[in-house]
Amino acid sequence: MTPESIGAIQALDSRHIWHPFCQAETGPALPVAVRAQGAWIETADGKRVTDLASSWWVNLHGHGEPSIAAAVARQAAEMEQVIFADFTHEPAARLAAGLARALPGDLDKVFYSDNGSTAVEVALKMALQYFQLVGQPGRKRLVGFEKGYHGDTVGAMSVGHSSGFFRAWSGMLFPVDTVPFPATWEGDDAVEAKEQRALAALDATLADDVAAVILEPLIQGAGGMRMCRPQFLRAVAEHVRAAGALLILDEVMTGFGRTGPLFACEQADVVPDLICLSKGLTGGFLPMGATVARDGFCQAFIGQTLDRAFLHGHSYTANPLGCAAGLASLTLLTGDECTLRRRALETVQTERVGDLARRRPELHARACGTIGGIDLGQGSYGDGSGNALKQKFWDEGMLLRPIGPAIYFLPPYCLTAEELHKAWDLLESALG
Ligand SMILES: Cc1ncc(COP(=O)(O)O)c(C=O)c1O
Repeated sequence: MTPESIGAIQALDSRHIWHPFCQAETGPALPVAVRAQGAWIETADGKRVTDLASSWWVNLHGHGEPSIAAAVARQAAEMEQVIFADFTHEPAARLAAGLARALPGDLDKVFYSDNGSTAVEVALKMALQYFQLVGQPGRKRLVGFEKGYHGDTVGAMSVGHSSGFFRAWSGMLFPVDTVPFPATWEGDDAVEAKEQRALAALDATLADDVAAVILEPLIQGAGGMRMCRPQFLRAVAEHVRAAGALLILDEVMTGFGRTGPLFACEQADVVPDLICLSKGLTGGFLPMGATVARDGFCQAFIGQTLDRAFLHGHSYTANPLGCAAGLASLTLLTGDECTLRRRALETVQTERVGDLARRRPELHARACGTIGGIDLGQGSYGDGSGNALKQKFWDEGMLLRPIGPAIYFLPPYCLTAEELHKAWDLLESALG
C-alpha cells in the first residue's frame, strides 16, 4: 500500500473506531495489518512481525492455517448460520463430541456461546441455578482468586474484580470473596508457605453458602502470567469438593495445549464440574466460547417444565463456521505433528527459563508448557513498564504484548524452536 492509502485508513480508524484497551490520546496510530500467515503478521508498509502473543492468545497453530481456512470456506458455502434453539447441525454435534473426547473425565455436555467472557458468565449462571434446582438455594456465593481475570461481562468482572481492570465499574459488580493465588517461579523457596496460606484462606471462605469457586488453572493470564503448581490446583479441587461447592475452571487461555497436556486440569488430575473454553477453540479463526459440564451436573436441569431449563442463549450460538473451524483445529491439535511442535516449544521455554532463573533470580522467570515469562519488577497493567521492550521487539520484527511488567512469550505452535530462541536472545540482550 502507498503511504497515502495507509494514512487514509488510519484517518478513518482514528475518526470512527474505539480500540480495546487503548488510550487514543496518547497511543500511536496503529499499524495497518494486511496479511497474516504462520507465525507472522504483515503490515501495509511491508513489515513482517512474528506474533509472540498469538494475537491475544487465540491463534493456536499459526495464522491462516490452510486446513481451518478450507473447513470454514466449505461450511460457508453450505450453511452459515441457523437458530440453535430450533435446529442442531453436524458441525456443532461433531465438535461437541470431539471436545468431550478430548476433555478428561465425564465433561461431556457442551453449551456454546460467543467468547471467553460468555463462557464464564454461562458457567456462573449454571452454578447458581444448579443449587436452586437441587434444593440448596442458599448456595449463592462465588469465590475467585486474587488477580484472576475472567472477562469483561458483569459476572466475569465480579469474579475477577481483583485483577485491577474494573475500577470504573465497581458499583455494578456483585460481591465475591477472593483468595490469595500462590504465584510461583523457578527457584521460589517460599512456594509451599504461600500455598498453605492460600488454602487456609480458601477454607475460611468455604462456608455452606458457597456455590462455586472459579480459577484459571496453573496460569493466571491477564493477571500477569502468574503460575501456580499442579499440586496447588489439586488441593483446591479437593477442598472445594469437600465443602460441597462446585469447581469452575476457566481454561479460556490455558486450554488446547498451552500448558503441556490438552487441558491444564489434566496436569493436576482434576476434573472440574464446569470448564470454560474459548480463544484457541477455533484456532483463532472465529469468536466462539464453550462451557462444558459433567453429565451428572446437567441432569439437574432436566424436567417437565421450561423453568428448569437453562434460559440463556446468544444469537450466534453454535455458529456453524465457528464449529467447523473448531473441528479442524481439534483435528490438528490431536495429531502427531502438532504434539511434536508443542514439545519443541516447551523444551525451549523450560531451558531458557531454567538458565535465566539461575543467573537472574530477581526476574522470577517461569515456564509452563509452551508459555514462558519474567517480571521486570512489580507494577500494574497500565504502568507502561514493558513499553520500551515492546518497542525494541517491534523494531526487530517481533510483536510482544507485555502485561505491565510481565513479559512473556505465548507463541502459535508453528513457531520454530530457533525463532523462540531468537526472542529469548533479544530479551536477554535487552535486559543487559
Ligand atoms: C482466562 C480468561 N478468561 C476469560 C477471558 C475473556 O475472554 P474474551 O476476551 O474472549 O471475552 C480471558 C481473556 O483474556 C481470559 O484470559
